[in-house]
Amino acid sequence: MHILIVGGTGFIGSQLCQHFSQLKYRLSILTRDLSKHINAAQSFTLISKLQKTDHPYDIIINLAGEPLNKHRWSEQVKKNIYESRIQSTQKIIDYIKTAHVKPKLLINGSAIGFYGSDANQIFTEDSKPADNGFTHRLCHDWETVAMQAESFGVRVCCIRTGIVLDAQGGALKEMLLPFKLGLGAQFGNGKQWMSWIHMIDVIQAIDFLINHSDLSGAFNLVSPFPVTNAQFTHALARTLHRPCFLRFPNIMVQAIFGEMGETLLLSGQHVIPDRLLQAGYQFKYSKVENALQHILRKKD
Ligand SMILES: NC(=O)c1ccc[n+]([C@@H]2O[C@H](COP(=O)([O-])OP(=O)(O)OC[C@H]3O[C@@H](n4cnc5c(N)ncnc54)[C@H](OP(=O)(O)O)[C@@H]3O)[C@@H](O)[C@H]2O)c1
Repeated sequence: MHILIVGGTGFIGSQLCQHFSQLKYRLSILTRDLSKHINAAQSFTLISKLQKTDHPYDIIINLAGEPLNKHRWSEQVKKNIYESRIQSTQKIIDYIKTAHVKPKLLINGSAIGFYGSDANQIFTEDSKPADNGFTHRLCHDWETVAMQAESFGVRVCCIRTGIVLDAQGGALKEMLLPFKLGLGAQFGNGKQWMSWIHMIDVIQAIDFLINHSDLSGAFNLVSPFPVTNAQFTHALARTLHRPCFLRFPNIMVQAIFGEMGETLLLSGQHVIPDRLLQAGYQFKYSKVENALQHILRKKD
């Protein structure tokens, strides 16, 4: 089995690489900067361009894109976030179009931002988005480009991923230091939903999609039990045996982080992984307390 991971150098991609290396799959990673990632001990091939290969890819996994939380969202930053995803996905489609041996499967990144935000709605893969804001348009257009691969006989799965929990990166890593110092705080009124997933379940769910050739379309990669921001901050503080009594008021989040803070920190969505559950996927970590205990115990 030969897997190409586009964006395989990132937070999720690097853990996927470790997983596939253990399974002894042949691995290639497409990166924009070969020199940054070259390493004698690595068990994969690094490439900087999608081109004809003597070893065709069985599966392409596309995770590439400018991070959402690196900068305040100016119009230019949103354009970079959008174009980095649409263009790298379009290059994959162009490659598939011309490849003599097509991959069997494209797993394409997406996010629960697809659903927009509504505090009172529970979203499944069949739900209509609550709004037509930036994250919905981004995920909708990203998925639309990826789905073009179907017309070349490729099975396509779009993974609408929630907040990925792991100590090595993502949102949890950012929170750890203030929480360890007893300065952890909930955002706003804390009622906004956080649909989260343990990194182990991201990897296992991707494996599940690979091994179930009857599955295609959109899949929510979130635990079946999302929590509110208040529940999450208290669970994290309890796991670290630290107090949690601070609040980051809306007005401060808006002033410091602008639209990015409003979208990622003050709004949320209650998302259920309906299609994975129906297909028989069993989550290793369904409850946030267990996930946090596992992640933080592993780190210490
Ligand atoms: N982490 C989460 O909690 C989460 C939640 C929901 C959805 N997602 C989505 O899942 C995907 C993977 O997440 P991640 O956290 O692993 O992402 P990440 O680490 O931020 O980035 C993945 C890779 O994207 C490439 N990249 C960065 N900027 C780029 C640009 N301007 N143009 C093209 N490629 C660029 C980088 O690869 P090179 O530098 O090697 O080219 C990077 O290693 C992302 O698209 C993200 O939006 C993540």
